[in-house]
Amino acid sequence: MTASSSSPPTAGSALPADLPTGLLIGGEWRAAGSGGTFAVHDPATTDVLAEVSDAGEQDALDALTAADAAFREWRTVAPRDRSELLRAVFEAITARTDEIAAVITAEGGKPLAESRAEVAYAADYVRWFAEQAVRMEGLARRAPAGTHHQLVLRKPVGPALLITPWNFPIAMIARKLAPALAAGCSVVVKPAQLTPLTTALVAEIVRAELAARHLPTGVVNVVPSSSASRISRPLLADPRLRKLSFTGSTEVGASLLKQAADGILRTSMELGGNAPFLVFDDADLDAAVEGAVAAKMRNSGQTCVAANRFLVQEGVAEEFTARLTEAFGRLVVGPGDRPGTTVGPLIQQSAVDRVTEVVQQADDAGAQVRVGGMRPEGRGWFYLPTVLDGVTPDMRVVTEEVFGPVAPVLRFGSEDEGVDLANATPFGLVAYAYTRDVGRVMRLTERIDAGMLGVNRGMVSDASAPFGGVKRSGLGREGGEAGIEEYVDPMYVAL
Ligand code: SIN
Repeated sequence: MTASSSSPPTAGSALPADLPTGLLIGGEWRAAGSGGTFAVHDPATTDVLAEVSDAGEQDALDALTAADAAFREWRTVAPRDRSELLRAVFEAITARTDEIAAVITAEGGKPLAESRAEVAYAADYVRWFAEQAVRMEGLARRAPAGTHHQLVLRKPVGPALLITPWNFPIAMIARKLAPALAAGCSVVVKPAQLTPLTTALVAEIVRAELAARHLPTGVVNVVPSSSASRISRPLLADPRLRKLSFTGSTEVGASLLKQAADGILRTSMELGGNAPFLVFDDADLDAAVEGAVAAKMRNSGQTCVAANRFLVQEGVAEEFTARLTEAFGRLVVGPGDRPGTTVGPLIQQSAVDRVTEVVQQADDAGAQVRVGGMRPEGRGWFYLPTVLDGVTPDMRVVTEEVFGPVAPVLRFGSEDEGVDLANATPFGLVAYAYTRDVGRVMRLTERIDAGMLGVNRGMVSDASAPFGGVKRSGLGREGGEAGIEEYVDPMYVAL
């Protein structure tokens, strides 16, 4: 790690001793200009884990200045060299899986096995874009009129602001940062206030690999802050910034889009979801229950692809609900670093309060709690895995994205009714469907309004596939061939 003139604060003893907790600007870790810090908590105990430098407006602008300067050099670096840098980052992340997973669990709460899976998922994005960096397709042809030739080149858009969420603190930075670097862009990262430590660890890995190759370390800058708008407002108003990529709520995304409009910025928005999980009469129920647990309980239900509404056809509704209740009852709630834990805490007290509120509202309106429906005893921000039966479409647990371990079950009769219920939401990120009927699968691909569809699978995420939604779930795609296109502009040359 590089020395800094004014030392950033240090992390607590549960974390790696050399974990940076400052701002990364122009290849140097440093304290915030104000000297201020904010606390990061362990959601399993509510204890303070670390104090992290709290960036302000001037720090954000300093980071953009560094990113802008580094961009001029980085865009000229050979694609093969960018690719090899990313390959080295992939290998370093993979080699340090356990260390990174421990930090994810400490600040995010998820069970260690899930944290390790997240590290592998993140590394996969880095490897995928290392491979894509040398496969940027262009075009060369004679103009149809025969008067000239046409070249279409793909050029990096320029410095990008990446705003990442707390629920996947390494995977979400990986799937923004890797395509940005592969394309030749530099970045300023604003990590989530609740989970900045994992980002710091990854940023230090990238910084060290850049420095080892004598590449411009200023291509990756990180500005943790207790105020997202203190970072985003000055940067979105600065003409040097050319791209915004955001993962988070639809409300914040809409506000950022308005601010990005003045600068005519390229934007990628991965926003809220309200995923339907359809189980038809002909489904393999063992597979459906296993998929339901995966689609609902990953990160305690705190993912934008979490199944939010379980829509079950009448013929199997009772059987499916009984089996799901049993499966949820077997889950082990506890701190993520305790052996045997399968469900960790929620991220903060307000998340527990919100889940409590929507379950209470459903209960008051006539739903039945089949299992869970409360907080367990003891400290930490926990909520028990919950199945609600007798749910109706107007309940908040159905109309809102719950972001917690709660599975509301609604029943439907015909396929048409199921599809109508599935589409009855302003969101369209992902849908899941369990059926053995191939004809029905093809009808669903045409009729379901979502960016992604899991067929007999409770998990769709994959670095090589385009992740993203329609309607109020977002704009653009991350991952796959499409992921790198978000960071390049085509340039047409007539000659
Ligand atoms: C998210 O919840 O934002 C992302 C989940 C995923 O990539 O699977």
